[in-house]
Order: sequence, then C-alpha cells, then structure tokens
Amino acid sequence: MHRTIIVLDFGSQYTQLIARRLRELSVFSEVLPYDTPIDEIRRRAPAGVILSGGPRSVSQPGAPRCSPAVFDLGFPVLGICYGMQLMTVTLGGTVAGAAQREYGQAEVSLAPGAGSSRLLRDIPSTLRVWASHGDLVSDAPPGFRVLATSPSAPVAAMTSPDGRLSALLFHPEVAHTEHGLDLLRNFAYGVCGCAGDWTIASFIDEAVARVRRQVGDGRVVCGLSGGVDSSVAALLIHRAIGDRLTCIFVDNGLLRMDEAAQVRRRFVEKLRLPVVFVDASARFLASLAGVVDPEEKRKRIGVTFVEVFDAEASAVGGFDFLAQGTLYPDVIESVSVVGPAATIKSHHNVGGLPERMRFRLVEPLRELFKDEVRAVGRELGLDEELVRRQPFPGPGLAVRILGEVTPARLDLLRRAAQVVVEEIKRQGWYDRLWQSFAILLPVQSVGVMGDERTYEHTVAIRAVESRDGMTADWARLPHDLLATLSSRVVNEVKGVNRVVFDISSKPPSTIEWE
Ligand code: XMP
Repeated sequence: MHRTIIVLDFGSQYTQLIARRLRELSVFSEVLPYDTPIDEIRRRAPAGVILSGGPRSVSQPGAPRCSPAVFDLGFPVLGICYGMQLMTVTLGGTVAGAAQREYGQAEVSLAPGAGSSRLLRDIPSTLRVWASHGDLVSDAPPGFRVLATSPSAPVAAMTSPDGRLSALLFHPEVAHTEHGLDLLRNFAYGVCGCAGDWTIASFIDEAVARVRRQVGDGRVVCGLSGGVDSSVAALLIHRAIGDRLTCIFVDNGLLRMDEAAQVRRRFVEKLRLPVVFVDASARFLASLAGVVDPEEKRKRIGVTFVEVFDAEASAVGGFDFLAQGTLYPDVIESVSVVGPAATIKSHHNVGGLPERMRFRLVEPLRELFKDEVRAVGRELGLDEELVRRQPFPGPGLAVRILGEVTPARLDLLRRAAQVVVEEIKRQGWYDRLWQSFAILLPVQSVGVMGDERTYEHTVAIRAVESRDGMTADWARLPHDLLATLSSRVVNEVKGVNRVVFDISSKPPSTIEWE
C-alpha cells in the first residue's frame, strides 16, 4: 500500500503543481484545504505534509493558518514560501516584510555543510530558483539550521535539528527552479521515506477494491458520454461490479459525425459494457428551437438531459449509485482557499442529477489528473483513438453553432468539423493540440465560385494549446495547413464560402465560442 503526502493548500497558484510533481515521482499526494481539522490529517496517517505557498502575508490579520499541531504529530513537514513563513512564526522565529517583493528568478547559495541534510543531499551549491514572496524569514525558529541564503534573503532554506521539519523560501515545484524535482524527491524519499510505488496498476487495483467496498451488492448507473472520463469511470466500475453497472448513452442530436454508432461499436461490441441507448435528438432539438442566447442553450440542454436520463434510469430501475467521471482538478477547484472560480459558463454534463435523483455518488477518478485517466484507460483496454481524443463539451455542437441550432446548420457544421479533424490528424497536429475544431458563425458573406456570386456561411477554426483547459494559447499552425483546411472546407462543405482562423488566447477569450 503506497503512502500519501498531504499538501495543505494556502491558495498558491502552484499548489496543484506540487501534487503533480509528486506523482511524477510515483508518490501519491492529496491536496486538502489549509484548515482541515487535525484529526482528519492524523486519520490519514500521511508519510509527510507540505504547506503550500499562498498570496497572503502571515502578519496580516486573518491570514490562513493550519492547526499548529501539524508540527507536533511526528511526521515530516515541508513549508514552501508562505508555508515557510507560517512554520517560522508558529515555531518562534521571525518573519519580516522584505524591502522589495521578490518575484521571478533568484539565486540561492547553500550554506557550508548543507549537503549533509536530507533535504539538500546532492544539490549543487548554487541554484537558480523561482521565488514569489513579499515576506522573509529574518530569524529561523530556535534550534533550526540555516541551509541556504540568497542576496535578499538571510534564510532561503532551513531545517530542524532532526531534519523532520524543513522549509524553502522558493518554489521547488515550478519548472524554472533548478533541481526542483530533486528537492521534492529528497523530501518524499529521503525525509518521508516514500518508496515511489504509486503506479497506474496499483491505482486500478485500489480503485476497484474501493468501488466494491462502497457499492456492496448495490447497483450503479453511469451516464456514458463517449468521452474519455466517463468511459474510464465506466470501465473501472465494470471491472469492480460487472453487470450490476448499467450505462446510459443519450444521443442528444448534438454529437459529431457517426458518434453514436462509434459508441455502440466500441463499448457494446468490443468492450462488452452494458449500455442502454436513448435517441433523444428530436427532443433536444425541439427544446432549442428559436434559442440564440448561449446560456439559455446550455440551460435547456442541461434540463433536457436530466429529464431524459432520469426517465431512462427510472425505467430500468433499482439503482443505488450514480457514477461520475469527476477528476482531481474539479475537486481541487472546489476546495480552493480563494473560493471556487466564478462561474463563467455553466458546464452541464450530468449536473443536477445527484440532487434530483438522491443517488449516492461513485467517483473512481477523483484522485486523477487527465493524463493519468488516459493511462488508466489504456490499461483497461480502451483504444488509442479514444484515449487521445480531444475534449468535447457536454452541450456538443450546440455551443459551436452561434445563433439558432437547426438540423440544417448542425449538418453543415458536422461536415466542416469532420474535414477539420481529418486534416489536422493527417498533418500530424492532432496530438499536439488541446483542442481543434470548427465553429459555424451566424454570418453570411459574399464570395465567388466559378463565375457565380455566392452569399454563404462562414466557418471559424479554433486550435489551442493548453495543459488543462484553464488557460490556453492559440496554436501557431503552419500556413500550409491553414491553407489546406480553408480550401478543403470551402470545397467539400456545400454552403460555406469563407473560413477564418481564431487567434485569441484564453483569457480573455474562452476556448468554446459560447
Ligand atoms: P471554455 O470554453 O470555458 O472551455 O474555455 C474550457 C474547456 O471546457 C470545455 N467545455 C465544456 N465541457 N461541458 C463540458 O463537458 C460544457 O458545458 C463545456 N463547456 C466548455 C471546453 O471544450 C474546454 O475544453
């Protein structure tokens, strides 16, 4: 059984990165809010605790503090930036405001003999690091050893006499910090004694056991969207409880070309999952008739989905649990100190289902990042095409058709979308992009084809690079690829005489146009 490092989140933008880096070291970690009760932390018997950075100053009134008992329970603690300052004031040292906020690259020098500490073993004597702090530790807590300094900071790294408590003023989790991963490895392996034995295979075994424990001899219903997350969740649960799982696939009429048929081939014929198919396209399209406002579209699609899913689940009957493909970033978002991100778009997938149907939730992917979900999918036999699939929004093509969603406009966008994805794959760009897709604009413009004047539709192409969909940059596609995309769409999709390429990044623009 692997051991966990708990990361207490004080609101740093880098908290998730700490967890990610530890996973790179095959160490399992869990991010918890800074004010998690100490009993909760003790109950998890962590191998160690990391206190994250944070935007506040420890000397401000109301600055976030964890239970001081964190330092007394006997497990190792590493403070990073704000976490270091909090450790310092809690244990009797002094924190002072710096003359100048240090932000960006800084150079740190190790104190003589610092390499004998477990934290700094095999680390070179000078390091370029990434710093972001206004406060400094001017006096380390009594008994602590100063392990490193920087031109502006008398204490850039410190440790308690037994090496159990230690702290860094800079961010080892950020790629700009030289040997950052080595520092985290030293902490996780050297100080906490982790073995680096968290693997995808061990995750699957544990997740299957957990689902069996949770579900007992109950029955689970899962909304299968055809995307990676719900597919992997369904496969894991199926491995755990077999045909006591039922998947429901709702065809909302807003899917890509041939998608429903692909889902049938993949999940029913190949993977032998129990799937109920519901063709509700007519109902969804009727609910969207005359609707132009993006939020109204999303709302109606969400409401219709819940109604259709609910009716189907009740018809089959006897379910105790609802499966959801919630991922780790969704969980972290909702525990963040600074509060969940303000709602910019309502993301309707199976939203609303749990409250309405009073199901208990089964969320076997809650601990995973997207790339880990893909790895689990591979291990469970999902084909590469699905595993590598770019994200596709729950409301489907409806949010890529600006203006009213009609069968004719859906048909046009579906054909354009097919050409775009085909060409991007053919030219080897698909896997390099977070998303690439076509959008139908509510604009007609004049063109000429042969000797004829045309007055037809405009298709926009969006291609973005991103790590997580939270921020994104437009992809610098080669001009030749753009040229081929444009001529193929205009030639092969009747009704389109103009193609434009979206050069906006997120923020300020979102990835989807609606
Ligand atoms: P935005 O457009 O907000 O999108 O920049 C960020 C990521 O989320 C996807 N997206 C959705 N996914 N249901 C989903 O399942 C939705 O309603 C939805 N809206 C946007 C979008 O494709 C991108 O990956």
